Amino acid sequence: MADKIRWRCPSNIALVKYWGKRPNQIPANASLSMTLENSFTDIILTTGEKKKHGIELEYFFDGRPNEKFRQRVLIYLEENRRYFPFLNTRSIRIDSTNSFPHSTGIASSASAFGALSLALLTASGYTKADFYRQASFLARLGSGSACRSLFPDFALWGKLPGNAKSSDEYAIAVGTVHPDFYDWQDAILIVDDSPKKVSSSAGHLLMEGHFFAESRYRQANQHCQRMLDVIKYGDLEQFVTIIEQEALALHAMMMTSENYYLLIKPGTVLAIEAVMNFRKESKIPICFTLDAGPNVHIIYPGQYSGVVHAFLEDQMKAEVKRIIFDHIGKGPKKLTC
Ligand code: PMV
Repeated sequence: MADKIRWRCPSNIALVKYWGKRPNQIPANASLSMTLENSFTDIILTTGEKKKHGIELEYFFDGRPNEKFRQRVLIYLEENRRYFPFLNTRSIRIDSTNSFPHSTGIASSASAFGALSLALLTASGYTKADFYRQASFLARLGSGSACRSLFPDFALWGKLPGNAKSSDEYAIAVGTVHPDFYDWQDAILIVDDSPKKVSSSAGHLLMEGHFFAESRYRQANQHCQRMLDVIKYGDLEQFVTIIEQEALALHAMMMTSENYYLLIKPGTVLAIEAVMNFRKESKIPICFTLDAGPNVHIIYPGQYSGVVHAFLEDQMKAEVKRIIFDHIGKGPKKLTC
């Protein structure tokens, strides 16, 4: 008999960046993200009767068997089998789709491991009150930043001194959000969609023994502390400043590591400068952030969407391949099959 479970999990964009880790995806510093809405992964998990020994897994992406994803998930399942005892008696088939294209600076491993952990946890019959926390814990084991995708609005991941609820093992919802932050938008400018020269995993490793590592970890933790207050009490100027400092600090780490490298492109720098100038002239609290890639996330309040779209149309068209519009989201959803 086959049973189907379907979950949708969004991606997230880090406002305070996670860069550097210890074994088992334990972060070297705390990070804080905004949950997205339109950029998500849908997973249908079908369990069936098992015919062979070992884990029986089929993986389909966009309706076609995908061996690369199957291998990655198989390793994850083998390493974490103790959390999913039903794999001893059931086979599984995963059908996954993304709402967004590949290599766009939208973290697909975040939404994918978020959706996967929700589906596996549901299939395990887990119904405790800490369901989302446990899903966040399991998502982290697959891809660190994925653990922040399980919550609405903003999520914090990593132990912060003085914050008893925070943890290195899972993310938590930031909680009270000031009305100034209810409706933030993320326009993702695709400057370059070719595959990255240096993967995030390799980038994290380069923080080991990095000359600036300890100061960077201190800066990120301090930014998380401040961001928590900013989100609770409202302070647009600080919000914008921290976000931009974080984006530049992340790329500064790449540029100053032992094996230094650059992921930003000329189009990235042009977009950053245009946003800074536009903010100065318009007085709109708009800012940029970057992931580990050249694409630029433009973050701004929804009430200015009209004027920001006109600015993007006017000044970015020549620089970018396309723009994906997203906004702050309400977290994962269980769907009917
Ligand atoms: O979760 P990973 O290992 O793909 O690392 C993500 C790193 C950044 O996207 C650059 C920052 C972050 O906090 O999401």
